[in-house]
Amino acid sequence: MNTQRSSDALVRAPSNGSITPGYMPGFGNDFETEALPGALPQGQNSPQKCGYGLYAEQLSGTAFTAPRGQNERSWCYRIRPSVRHVNAFTPIELPLWRSAPCLTPGLSSLGQYRWDPLEHSGESLNWITGMRTMTSAGDVTLQSGMASHIYLVTHSMQDEYFFSADGELLVVPQEGELRFCTELGVIDVGPQEIAILPRGLVYRVEVISGPARGFVCENYGQKFDLPNRGPIGANCLANPRDFKCPVAAFEDRDAPSRVVIKWCGTFHETWIDHSPLDVVAWHGNYCPYKYDLRTYSPVGAILFDHPDPSIFTVLTAPSGQEGTANIDFVLFRERWLVAENSFRPPWYHKNVMSELMGNIYGVYDAKPDGFMPGSMSLHNCMLPHGPDRQAFDHATEEALVPERLSETMSFMFETRFPQQLTPFAAQEAPMQQDYQAVWRTLEKKFDGTPGLK
Ligand SMILES: [Fe+2]
Repeated sequence: MNTQRSSDALVRAPSNGSITPGYMPGFGNDFETEALPGALPQGQNSPQKCGYGLYAEQLSGTAFTAPRGQNERSWCYRIRPSVRHVNAFTPIELPLWRSAPCLTPGLSSLGQYRWDPLEHSGESLNWITGMRTMTSAGDVTLQSGMASHIYLVTHSMQDEYFFSADGELLVVPQEGELRFCTELGVIDVGPQEIAILPRGLVYRVEVISGPARGFVCENYGQKFDLPNRGPIGANCLANPRDFKCPVAAFEDRDAPSRVVIKWCGTFHETWIDHSPLDVVAWHGNYCPYKYDLRTYSPVGAILFDHPDPSIFTVLTAPSGQEGTANIDFVLFRERWLVAENSFRPPWYHKNVMSELMGNIYGVYDAKPDGFMPGSMSLHNCMLPHGPDRQAFDHATEEALVPERLSETMSFMFETRFPQQLTPFAAQEAPMQQDYQAVWRTLEKKFDGTPGLK
């Protein structure tokens, strides 16, 4: 792995001002960065005394003994150790942010579902209060499975911070821009970008432009990684250099501050008298990062047929079973369709994996109607799905000339576990009540006579 040094791009927060982003390129690199010159010890992790009177502290994202290729940790040099960033924990209620297992008596998740975009209500909401869980799968206490959320954020967190012990968050903005001020630096994201917030990382979320809406995949399991490319080789799909992690930035601010913690599906608050974003320097490979989805280089069919959608995987979070992901994050973006004598959209199928899709912008080719930007759909474990009638007619009658799919970006969170609807998704969110009607007019064409029909 490369080592990145960012001392030429120092970012220091004034005691009463905001901190700004700066980035280092690469995926899973062994990064090093310091916001003050000489704050990062050289040649060792834990000297007897650290420069500037900082405390040395390790943040372990994997077990100490995880294999080298999976082992992730970062060393932080901070104004106070994290034990000063928590006091007594008091339970709080966030009834719309749910965790697996979330089984509701009388509520079935057996079906194909689609929702219109969730609209802002006029209510003032921040990153914590604006999270709306749609589905969950697996078991958060077993560190296996996931949850999908939609966030509606209108306001920045003020002297308020958050961290989750339950998993990493994959953030997919759909409208508006957010700033994640984290312990390890600052990340700005907007539509057509994603951000990853690791398990245990403390951060505050600010609204750059809003109101903001987007999708979140909460990954309880093993961390997201780049998929193997197999015969594709060393390039294309998501390239490591297009991932950006933040340079060190810190706040030295004394003010009453609230820290909210998500732990085993429960929420607690604790009060401290300063900002916990006080890491002046750090090194390691456990860090938040962002990625511009417009840099994703799709690979597909150049003669006939449609490959499995796994060809569009951006990130994969493995499970214990090889090739069977806890979560795949899959991207359907602009690309050329050139296949000859082929049904070009995704084919009809049933899948042991369960598929949750969201539309970031534009028109998705298999669902030209009803799946608008901001919409979600769920095709659960072994539930049949595929192109709607309109897409089928177009795909079977169109002249098969090269066609560029433009102005389109949708994604999928695909998990090995069946996804359970939350009461919010089933009863409050704008579910399309007759979604199955999109396939109902696919009539029988077979009449026993040969020939293409
Ligand atoms: Fe599918």
